[in-house]
Amino acid sequence: MSLVQLIDFPPLGDDRGSLVALEANKSIPFDIKRVYYIFGTEQGVARGFHAHKELKQVAVCVTGRCRMVLDDGKHREEVWLDSPTKGILIEDMIWREMHDFSEDCVLLVLASEYYDESDYIRDYDQFLECSR
Ligand code: TYD
Repeated sequence: MSLVQLIDFPPLGDDRGSLVALEANKSIPFDIKRVYYIFGTEQGVARGFHAHKELKQVAVCVTGRCRMVLDDGKHREEVWLDSPTKGILIEDMIWREMHDFSEDCVLLVLASEYYDESDYIRDYDQFLECSR
């Protein structure tokens, strides 16, 4: 299966503009326990560089774009998140990196668990060990 699992969010548009609704266990395939967003990223800065042991996430650039790199320890794939109707599902034990943030980028992330630093693997070699 492809590492990049995109989810299309149908825009509920009318002549006033567009709207996207995200619902737990429907368009988002888990219970949403946490929402955060990354914005104001300085030019040239890359973020992420970690995996999660248990956490699942869906990320969507509600404004602007960034390049998402996913790695399962065997393969690396990348995709541009460049639309408020395009989400990406990031499963547990996937190394992720976000690069090339546009100045206006707002990256919204929906997470299946509360914040827990002990769920992070921040060392790539350790990630490779664990994913074997
Ligand atoms: P981090 O996960 O390192 O961000 P990124 O992967 O985008 O580079 O998080 C940055 C800081 O914010 C770090 O000190 C942990 C903190 N943080 C929280 O307190 N709660 C959260 O939900 C998240 C995602 C991060």
